[in-house]
Amino acid sequence: MKKIYNAAVLGCAHIAVRSLIPELFNSPRFNLAAVASRVASKAESIAKQYRGAAWGTYDEIINDETIDLVYIPLPNSIHYEWIMKALKNGKHVLCEKSLVTEYQHMEEIISYARKQNLLVAENFQFRFHSQHAWVLKALAEKRIGEIRIFRSSFGFPPLPDDNIRYSKDLGGGALFDAGAYPLKAMQFALPDCHFVMKSATLYNKNSDVDIYGGVYLDCPEGVVAELAFGFDNFYQCSYEIWGSAGKISATRAFTAPPGFKPHILLETNAGTEDLEMPADNHFQNMLSHIADCLDSGDFEEEYRQDLKQAAYIKQALELAR
Ligand SMILES: NC(=O)c1ccc[n+]([C@@H]2O[C@H](COP(=O)([O-])OP(=O)(O)OC[C@H]3O[C@@H](n4cnc5c(N)ncnc54)[C@H](OP(=O)(O)O)[C@@H]3O)[C@@H](O)[C@H]2O)c1
Repeated sequence: MKKIYNAAVLGCAHIAVRSLIPELFNSPRFNLAAVASRVASKAESIAKQYRGAAWGTYDEIINDETIDLVYIPLPNSIHYEWIMKALKNGKHVLCEKSLVTEYQHMEEIISYARKQNLLVAENFQFRFHSQHAWVLKALAEKRIGEIRIFRSSFGFPPLPDDNIRYSKDLGGGALFDAGAYPLKAMQFALPDCHFVMKSATLYNKNSDVDIYGGVYLDCPEGVVAELAFGFDNFYQCSYEIWGSAGKISATRAFTAPPGFKPHILLETNAGTEDLEMPADNHFQNMLSHIADCLDSGDFEEEYRQDLKQAAYIKQALELAR
């Protein structure tokens, strides 16, 4: 029988209440042990909905010796502080994207986590949707020949003015938020892109956060990646991989909810196939992966991905500014 890990949640964020708390509760590999909030009544009410879960302040949860893993869905700018506190109290960490707002914090986190042999994973659950495994297999089988360009877009219409994504102090901005997804997806298809060539973002004069933009990357063999993101955009959540002999387009790449069957278009000289992929639960797949990492104690691949993602974001920010 596989070990079940005690997980606690720091903050009753929308993403936690909507997805991660119910998914942790339903996971066969985790016990939803505790929920914390700055507002006691919020944590108490969520804990009551999930039988057995305790509630408390962030510090109480961090100091609880029975907790194995802390899930951090806080605003980006305070991830670093709470990741370090969790690690210093011997907890593994699953933290929302973007993990950090400054690259050197990422290096510090990974260096400490590695010494203590603790996991730090960035929560991109879309990585674990089976539609992407289908795409990777099709690429390996050369169904579209050699890759020539990777394009991806993630963006949505404006959010309410008080949303954390519009606050510079809270680590807002479209690149840290929506832009992180195309950057991550690109790494599936093109693991060796090494250089951000061009990056442009429009800054909102009132909040001083970027509200839309794009990134252009240089990859081996003359391949490029063209990524776009924004908070003032018609909804897009896709990537396309254009090859020498065809094209693959994932039309609901990042947010396919459990039960939803995403479509992938495969275009070749033989015609266009509109392929309905099976529904999948990327949250449960991701939690299984995290538990498997904890079982094995091997965290190097997650560390590598954390550092690489933070390095791309650092380069993109520097070029945009
Ligand atoms: N993986 C995904 O699919 C996904 C989707 C959406 C968002 N996210 C990420 O998840 C994180 C949270 O996003 P969200 O949209 O869920 O945010 P949100 O609803 O605004 O929640 C943030 C939570 O952080 C806590 N908090 C602590 N200090 C705060 C402060 N100074 N100001 C505001 N909140 C503070 C609050 O919880 P308490 O009041 O209970 O303490 C608040 O509910 C971000 O990193 C975001 O990028 C990921």
